[in-house]
Amino acid sequence: MSQSAAKKINIEEIDQKLFESLALKIYQLAGISLPYNDKNVALFNNRLSRLLREFKMSSYHELDEALKFPKEELKKSFISSLTTNKTDFFREEAHFDFLKTQLPLLFKAKSEVRIWSSACSLGSEPYTVALIISDMFQQPFEKSRFKILGTDLDLEVLKRAVTARYSNLEMEGVPAPMKQKYFKNLNNGFFALDPELAKMVHFSEFNLMNHQYRFQKKFDVVFCRNVLIYFDKPTTDKVVDLLVSNLEVKGHLIIGHSESGVIHHPHLKALGNSIFQKVRG
Ligand SMILES: C[S@@+](CC[C@H](N)C(=O)[O-])C[C@H]1O[C@@H](n2cnc3c(N)ncnc32)[C@H](O)[C@@H]1O
Repeated sequence: MSQSAAKKINIEEIDQKLFESLALKIYQLAGISLPYNDKNVALFNNRLSRLLREFKMSSYHELDEALKFPKEELKKSFISSLTTNKTDFFREEAHFDFLKTQLPLLFKAKSEVRIWSSACSLGSEPYTVALIISDMFQQPFEKSRFKILGTDLDLEVLKRAVTARYSNLEMEGVPAPMKQKYFKNLNNGFFALDPELAKMVHFSEFNLMNHQYRFQKKFDVVFCRNVLIYFDKPTTDKVVDLLVSNLEVKGHLIIGHSESGVIHHPHLKALGNSIFQKVRG
């Protein structure tokens, strides 16, 4: 859009009624619960005013109306505007130390080891898993026995994830030897992950609100970190149920450090550090 067109649109601050109507939409679409308060009003004004400009709309009312029967593109951009995508390589490192203890056991016990990063954002989480596997299992035939899936409902982050390119800042969590061994410095402030390693992760769109969904094969390890905090209790319970039903018995569910208090599931045993094991099917 030209600058002059952008200037003509003078978007007013969102009022409570429209806030609540739009908050209900993001809740229905993504499970994200955003109560009316100053922080979330600022978030809406900031992120949704950009969306209005992008779609050449002049008011939140127009957006609210358009979202009643939304075109796919608007719906996806609306979701993308209101998700928080902060992520890092080796974030909450204790989880990856735990994974390192499990990988040899799983490799020994199973012909295929399946790992799911279920709110993977820019891909740093599933690629961290791939980096660890590559370091522990050198032979291609060994690596090929690990299947890593990264999913998110935000298509914008998935588009970035498949490029497997990260800025200097986004690379901060990567240990120096791994950075040197598995990334190419593009000398433009970005690093590209080794394509062989990038190929180990498959990305797909998936909404955790798809509560009834069952994957054809269950997973041995499921990461669902730093997303449950955006859900209310009924949504969290349903999401955890979905994750547990797609997890092998004896498999592990790993959630964010700040989220461990929210999980109470009869099939899960807490092992500490926000790691849970499925103890019955
Ligand atoms: C803060 S990031 C966490 C990324 C990564 N798991 C980590 O801990 O570094 C949260 C991610 O959850 C995704 N998300 C939010 N609601 C979701 C839903 N209903 N289904 C799937 N992903 C969702 C967002 O798009 C975002 O990329």
